[in-house]
Amino acid sequence: MKAKIAILGGDGIGPEVTAESMKVLEAIGSRYGHEFEYSTGPVGGNAIDDFGEALPAKTEAVVLASDAVLFGAVGGPKWDDPAAKTRPEDGILALRKTLGLFANLRPVKIYPELINASPLRPERLEGVDMIIVRELTGGLYFGKPKKRWETSRGRRAVDTLKYTEQEIARVLRVGFELAKNRRKRLHSLDKMNVLESSRLWREVAIEVGQEYPDVELIHMLADNAAMQLVMRPAEFDVIVAENMFGDILSDEASVLTGSMGMLPSASLSSLPPADGKPKRGGKPALYEPIHGSAPDIAGQGIANPCASILSAAMLLRWSFGLHEEADAIESAIEGVLSEGYRTMDIGVPGGNTLGTTEFGDLIAGRVG
Ligand code: IPM
Ligand code: MN
Repeated sequence: MKAKIAILGGDGIGPEVTAESMKVLEAIGSRYGHEFEYSTGPVGGNAIDDFGEALPAKTEAVVLASDAVLFGAVGGPKWDDPAAKTRPEDGILALRKTLGLFANLRPVKIYPELINASPLRPERLEGVDMIIVRELTGGLYFGKPKKRWETSRGRRAVDTLKYTEQEIARVLRVGFELAKNRRKRLHSLDKMNVLESSRLWREVAIEVGQEYPDVELIHMLADNAAMQLVMRPAEFDVIVAENMFGDILSDEASVLTGSMGMLPSASLSSLPPADGKPKRGGKPALYEPIHGSAPDIAGQGIANPCASILSAAMLLRWSFGLHEEADAIESAIEGVLSEGYRTMDIGVPGGNTLGTTEFGDLIAGRVG
């Protein structure tokens, strides 16, 4: 198979971890006879520095000409002035919107080898295997009005939490489709006790749920879900949540695994295909670690590349239907972990802690 993959490293550790994913994709390509053609472009803070925009037109063109996008991370203290006109994060937000990526899949998987790296007691982690489906192109992130202004009585600011029933229904459908092939349980999160948008969310969840009688639909208030995620994480199978709730709760869920450095994500613009064979053509989907640019460790060669490499596996699975190849990457990571190798974030004193490239080499080696 031939495919064009846009690789956008971004800022901080983004380029370091995506370089390891490229290595692994190359190993997959030669083992299974696929030809991946890579293209790249600036995005985020470095793009603001060099081109005055977080998503320069030439990067957008590269993305639109590709079959899938592997994204690193954006942001850093250098660009954190709250008064700045453009922000690195505008780059990824614009990509999500332009590509129509309304469903962000964030699987939370426990690796037995990493149980001691988790802040939770081992018995709480037993049976944990969930996927968070975060709505990605609506809600507080994009609702208008969104602005800041001055009045005679001081500064004011507003963000808007707005959803149409269609936006709610389509992301819930993604959740139900996934749940159908998993443990058949879906938690729909909202704050219907307070928010009007959440009351619509709940109503629509009930309606869409009727199309999926085999899936148990559980409504849960988002604040309660924050508690249940650490009390009884194994109860969850598929979670569907509004953009901001999903952002916050997936960071929380990620540490169950021991490190945020282990969590990949896929951002899709359509329902996952029932037969596992995605149609080619149309706008590309985007894959990225859920972690950020980690400026505190950038440039030191110590970042964990797993989240990015697992994102590359999701890319093969969800954009190209290459399930065997994706499985090969996932088991290579399990294999390297079970041999005792770690990166700094999941390391133990006296353990075999490697740098980013050494760790990536081991995974690529096992894949190839
Ligand atoms: C994420 C990140 C982004 C978000 C930032 C970088 C805009 O936190 O992907 O979870 O808030 O969506
Ligand atoms: Mn986030």
